[in-house]
Amino acid sequence: MSARGDQPRTPVLRQEYRPPAWWVDHVELEFDLDATETRVTSRMSVRRNPEVDAEPLTLSGAGLETKRVEIDGEPAKFDERGADETLVVEGVPERAEVTTEVVVHPERNTALEGLYKSGAMLLTQCEAEGFRKITWFPDRPDVMATYRVRLAGDRERFPVLLSNGNCMETGELDDGRHFAVWNDPFPKPSYLFAIVAGELSELADTFTTRSGREVALKFYSEPENIGQLDHAMESLKKSMAWDEERFGLEYDLDVFHVVATHDFNMGAMENKSLNIFNARYVLADRETATDADYEAIESVIAHEYFHNWTGNRVTCRDWFQLTLKEGLTVFRDQEFTADMRSPGVKRIQDVSDLMARQFPEDAGPMAHPVRPERYVEINNFYTATVYEKGAQVVRMYETLLGRDGFRRGMDLYFERHDGQAVTCDDFRRAMADANDADLEQFERWYRQVGTPTVEASTRYDESAGELVLELAQRLPEHPDNRNIGALMIPVKVGFLDTDNRPLPVTLSGESEAGPETRLLVLTDEKAEYRFRDLPADALPSLLRDYSAPVKLDYDWSSRDLARLAGFDSDPFSRWRAMRRLSERVLGDLIEGRDEHDAELLIEAWAAVLDGSGEDPALAAELLSLPSVGELAQDRDPVDIEAIHAARVELLGLLGRRLENALRERFDTLAPTGEWSSEGPDAARRRLRNVALGLLASGGCDDAAEWASKHYDGADNMTDRLAAFRTLVHHELEGAQDALADFEQRFADDQLVMDKWFAVQATRSDERAVDDVRRLMDHAAFRLNNPNKVRSLIGAFAMMNPVAFHRADGAGYKLVGEVLDKLDDINPQVGARLATSFNRWRAYDDKRSAMMKEQLQKLAAKKGLSPDIEEIVTAALK
Ligand code: ARG
Ligand code: ZN
Repeated sequence: MSARGDQPRTPVLRQEYRPPAWWVDHVELEFDLDATETRVTSRMSVRRNPEVDAEPLTLSGAGLETKRVEIDGEPAKFDERGADETLVVEGVPERAEVTTEVVVHPERNTALEGLYKSGAMLLTQCEAEGFRKITWFPDRPDVMATYRVRLAGDRERFPVLLSNGNCMETGELDDGRHFAVWNDPFPKPSYLFAIVAGELSELADTFTTRSGREVALKFYSEPENIGQLDHAMESLKKSMAWDEERFGLEYDLDVFHVVATHDFNMGAMENKSLNIFNARYVLADRETATDADYEAIESVIAHEYFHNWTGNRVTCRDWFQLTLKEGLTVFRDQEFTADMRSPGVKRIQDVSDLMARQFPEDAGPMAHPVRPERYVEINNFYTATVYEKGAQVVRMYETLLGRDGFRRGMDLYFERHDGQAVTCDDFRRAMADANDADLEQFERWYRQVGTPTVEASTRYDESAGELVLELAQRLPEHPDNRNIGALMIPVKVGFLDTDNRPLPVTLSGESEAGPETRLLVLTDEKAEYRFRDLPADALPSLLRDYSAPVKLDYDWSSRDLARLAGFDSDPFSRWRAMRRLSERVLGDLIEGRDEHDAELLIEAWAAVLDGSGEDPALAAELLSLPSVGELAQDRDPVDIEAIHAARVELLGLLGRRLENALRERFDTLAPTGEWSSEGPDAARRRLRNVALGLLASGGCDDAAEWASKHYDGADNMTDRLAAFRTLVHHELEGAQDALADFEQRFADDQLVMDKWFAVQATRSDERAVDDVRRLMDHAAFRLNNPNKVRSLIGAFAMMNPVAFHRADGAGYKLVGEVLDKLDDINPQVGARLATSFNRWRAYDDKRSAMMKEQLQKLAAKKGLSPDIEEIVTAALK
């Protein structure tokens, strides 16, 4: 139970960081496990920090039933302050052993933070501040201790007992109970602590590190899913090898565990040597997981594994530094996926995801720098900004310093900080010092809020015979941006000649011809770059590779966009140009203008389809339109109906005009050999399914027949789901049969049922509101399961603007009701959902008022969680 008064909560400020008054060097924990009542005894070896003013030992705890507090074995005087969730222990000498004993209730823990129950298993989630729900502790990441953990529980119910580090001892106890003792030799912050207890099956393998350490790799799941762990295991081995190869980083213990659970707030968690995963990022087989699932599993497994160095060996000093480990680790997993699969396509996907999810955050009421300045509830700051924009910030170091320079910086970072809890500034200094580079200005990236804009223009200076590129940068209006100044922005540029061939980019005054892609570093508000030997009509390709997380303004003609989309050497730049072109056409359709460049877009798509044999995955990326949500982003007021109608119109036009080519693609991409989840096969399926979707959009006569055949004949989830989605979203004949068939076929598979829910929740039709309401009563739906909430309600609120913004407010009402309940069940999951109302001001008066009403209702709720309160308050401000 968290303490709450009715006064607004005061935020924690980055500037107010103070080192801890007490260190904990070592902790011994004992768990007497039971689902209803678990007893936790903790013995902490504490030591006063001589570097700060003396303060009594103050521990954090939430919802603990305190049974005993002792100093060196004697009962202690203590003051438990429920309101601020602290325990102040009086009279602790400079060094002491402080013992506490508490009781917690895993079964009642629906927030899934601390010790909780999932199925028959007990497990923990501590990041960010869940450890305090397990025992009294200085629950902050700069307090690093070694842990020895003794788990005891019923042998039948909990045959598997796991914690961090190495297993030291196991044995039998009375009454059918048994125990296990685990020891983790690496000092760690409390957020990396974990235990798991339950009846689990195990898949074991080994990996030998390059220095010859044999590591036991063990994956655990509920017994019925044991056959779905192989892909995750392979992904782990690839990740371990890659981190050695690319960064010289080896695993440091003899065992590495991964446990899958169906009840998890986030994707996964990097607890030291005991990673805990949302089952959706572990379990896969051909029948139940799509190619996208396979890729996501590979990348999340890598992400959590990579945290062992970037996060665990070197951790964060305080939670404001979260991007130190998350931005860096996302960057690392992106690079890994690029190496495993296609770098160009991966880059497109990452930027496309950034634009779809992070840009709105950056423009919304919760906008914050990658290193936030303040928070009420830290769980609200596990955001696309901290993670994805944070990864773009890390990528800029590499862009500026080169791959080798970046590696030197990483090496120095580990050399200096292994075993420490540090800051983003420490990381930046390591990068600078290892390369003799001045990165003072780069620090501004950690403080600025919102997406910066770079304005570009070109002209030809006849007299000098030089092409001139002007760049100017601008930050969005925001109080926190007032004293930032100019950012250091790497901008990669290139030029095409009239035959769309790359030209060397040579600055005026240089004697030798330059490279085809040139890195410019904009450090002032404005700068001018002069290039020699470029024709006056050279076509600029700007911000190749998305070299900085900015919005780029440049006035390309539609024809030039089509040229870039077709011929630029950089895949990202091709995708971006195609997006710009389709945004332009859609903008004209939305505004009801008769003149538009749809013909150019059709031509460009035709050319992509024509050449799609070479790289079907890239073609699939190019042949996509921005979503309704993305198109809504920059509009105020937003007219969802007009946006949707424009999109349907354009997709219909594309589908009809390209019908022959699409049919031809659908045929030629049919599978030939054995199924495999590997890139080339996945790419063929991907493009084939894009073709099917477009044929359906075009209203092509036999789309229904094709989709049904595709559905029935599918021997893998990628094809089956794509066909299913096409049938349901286009309401084709056969949709009802497919709905029933899918439901019956996969009734026992929670993860696949999530897909069944999500497809229905995202049908762009007002009636989807009623479907969602009905589906909430489905036997497979549970409001206390985050995956279910996300796949039905989350998908509806975030990915189905047409239904969510239904004119009568039924969508808002539905989400408002769910939020009211979720607030009591799982505030963390509720808070994410609550952001769906963030842009309420941008809609017409009626909708705006109805959305505001939902926010106000929540704000007025008695005992509203800090999680949802923070979101709602910011939105209403
Ligand atoms: N560190 C985890 C990861 O990104 C995520 C943990 C999220 N926890 C939270 N309370 N939001 O790998
Ligand atoms: Zn992470």
